[in-house]
Amino acid sequence: MAGRVAGRVALVTGASSGLGKRFAQVLAAEGAKVVVAARRKDRLDALVAELGADKALAVECDVTDEAAVVAMFDAAEAKFGVVDTVINNAGMTHEKNALTQDIAEFRKILDLNVTSVWCVAREAARRLIKAGADVSARGRIVNIASMAGRIIIPNVSAYNASKAACSHLTRSLAREWARYGINVNGLSPGYVETELTADWLHSEGGKKYMQKFPRRRMMDETSLDEALLFLCADASKFVTGSDVMVDDAQSMG
Ligand SMILES: NC(=O)c1ccc[n+]([C@@H]2O[C@H](COP(=O)([O-])OP(=O)(O)OC[C@H]3O[C@@H](n4cnc5c(N)ncnc54)[C@H](OP(=O)(O)O)[C@@H]3O)[C@@H](O)[C@H]2O)c1
Repeated sequence: MAGRVAGRVALVTGASSGLGKRFAQVLAAEGAKVVVAARRKDRLDALVAELGADKALAVECDVTDEAAVVAMFDAAEAKFGVVDTVINNAGMTHEKNALTQDIAEFRKILDLNVTSVWCVAREAARRLIKAGADVSARGRIVNIASMAGRIIIPNVSAYNASKAACSHLTRSLAREWARYGINVNGLSPGYVETELTADWLHSEGGKKYMQKFPRRRMMDETSLDEALLFLCADASKFVTGSDVMVDDAQSMG
């Protein structure tokens, strides 16, 4: 049986670790050709070796660099054709409260979590539209936001603000590109144990925080698989401008 995303060319940013790596594995297992991007090329190469060089391509890219984003799409297109599925996953958080944070760090977080999401989505949409209506109608852009875009996680105001902006950007782009058939949706996870969160989750503060979750359990990297596949597959043809929250009720704690 063909996979749920067979025939698609998917690009996953921030695929060198955590959720992005998992998203690439899930999309490849369901039949997509996958372009994996991040700054740590050695990790991407290892992922491509696992997925198969005929099915995956590693591209070193700092997504805050506009020229590098264009070059990433050029490389993807040269190997597999027009990218019709984008997982805008690269992101970062921080640990400083607003009083101790400097403006450079605040800007860095907004640059990666919002501006680069816009830049990658824009490049994808430009190419999809140029390729014509048959191609753009397959367009799927999934922006990885966070429950932090809807609730306040203490002491990470830049992160909270960036993820709220990411979600509103998602809806704005969905509206703008609706006429081309391109679907733009958000996927907002609660806490999932990854490199980004592991240290904190295992700290005393993290364990105490987890006790507030209604289900008092942690999600793992597989928890988002089905939501991701739905948003990338033909099944979500009529879904655009949505934000799918996968948080195991954490935000209601
Ligand atoms: N884990 C959670 O609990 C959780 C919850 C809600 C939302 N999220 C969101 O999910 C996404 C992935 O998080 P994660 O937990 O998997 O974190 P992670 O393991 O730290 O992964 C972050 C990824 O982003 C990449 N990245 C960082 N800066 C980049 C840049 N300038 N250019 C290109 N790639 C860059 C990193 O790769 P390189 O360093 O190799 O570039 C890495 O692959 C983020 O957007 C995060 O906000 C995570």
